[in-house]
Amino acid sequence: MFQIVKNMNLRGTAAVAALSLTASIAHADEITYVSGATGAAVENFAALVAPWEEATGHTVTLVPMPSSTTDQFGQYRLWLAAGNSDVDIYQTDVIWAPQLADHFVDLRDAAGDLVERHFPSIIESQTVDGSLVALPIYTDAPALYYRSDLLEKHGATVPTTWEELTVTAQMIQDAERAEGQSDLWGFVWQGNSYEGLTCNALEWVKSSGGGQIIEADGAISINNPNAVAALELVAQWPGTISPEGVLAYQEEEARGVWQTGNAVFMRNWPYAYGLGNGDDSAVKGLFGVATLPTGQGHDMSAATLGGWNVAVSKYSDNQEAAISLAVYLASEEAQKQLALNESNLPTIVSLYEDADIAEQQPIIPQWKDVFLQAVPRPSAPTRQDYNEVSTLFFSAVHSVLSGDEDAATALAELEVDLEDLLED
Ligand code: GLC
Repeated sequence: MFQIVKNMNLRGTAAVAALSLTASIAHADEITYVSGATGAAVENFAALVAPWEEATGHTVTLVPMPSSTTDQFGQYRLWLAAGNSDVDIYQTDVIWAPQLADHFVDLRDAAGDLVERHFPSIIESQTVDGSLVALPIYTDAPALYYRSDLLEKHGATVPTTWEELTVTAQMIQDAERAEGQSDLWGFVWQGNSYEGLTCNALEWVKSSGGGQIIEADGAISINNPNAVAALELVAQWPGTISPEGVLAYQEEEARGVWQTGNAVFMRNWPYAYGLGNGDDSAVKGLFGVATLPTGQGHDMSAATLGGWNVAVSKYSDNQEAAISLAVYLASEEAQKQLALNESNLPTIVSLYEDADIAEQQPIIPQWKDVFLQAVPRPSAPTRQDYNEVSTLFFSAVHSVLSGDEDAATALAELEVDLEDLLED
């Protein structure tokens, strides 16, 4: 008799345990997160989300997308237009908010007090018609990476103008090649026909007094002599201080040349800082970062404002869990991890005072003023048309850099195309 009761109890306990297991499985959502694969972001993702998975019992799968933000945008726009419910969270570029806002959930209430811990300008950039359509996970502003060992060896200083950079890059490239460094290039950057070229070219033009393509009030300003002169200088680089192939480079190709020790200078975002100091990097400890040069006779360096956010799809079947993950990724805890592991610039103000970050990734506190003064692309004044505006701009610039058109003709035609696109 006693034995039977005992067995029943055992069975009862097992049943309760089984039941609670089923209950927690029923509430365990599987979140699908799509993000471009640049640097070590994909590799580090599991560790980044592990604390949230542990706390909630949900799981996240990252689906890696092409590194090009232009390609990502094209794909996401199609999925969202079709009401795709397979993707719960999109990692979104700072420029996309006005174009994709209608497809994303308003995150303001869910984020609560967290919103106030971020830089207000970044929150503002993700707010469309009063809705906070994406939460920032990091901001971006590029640097001029330079090889301190090579500058010292050749008695050169960090260039402060593009003209000076051209001369220094050529001088060191020639001298090193004469010593047998036949793979060394003076300067690598992003010349592919995509959004990254819009960023690079905006910097050349703006820092040469040529405006910012379309100004904040909507005026089309790109067809001007300073912009023409800036592009004429850059058009000399492919095949001289930069490989011909730079016209197909995105961020990762430039970093590849740089990190194997084959470039004197590189224009890239802060993510390349931590990777450049990694144990497998040929330039570990051999480089520094400076603000980008200016055009000769101009004193304002211009860094394009970049950055990434997380947005929850209106078509997600797992919205509650997805919102909770988005809030976690925008939190101080997750942003600190991204800062330490990927040298990404936080959007939370207090992390610029964090001692661990300052010690392990000194570029971060050093870059606070750079991103605060960074130049936005004209996504706010052009709203729904930004992607087309940028495509017209980078295509025109690419044709100049490839030698297909001269700068004055290309910018005059671009002005007409922009007028046609934006008139109504
Ligand atoms: C970086 C920036 C992003 C920009 C992209 C261009 O990822 O953060 O804003 O659009 O580079 O390649």
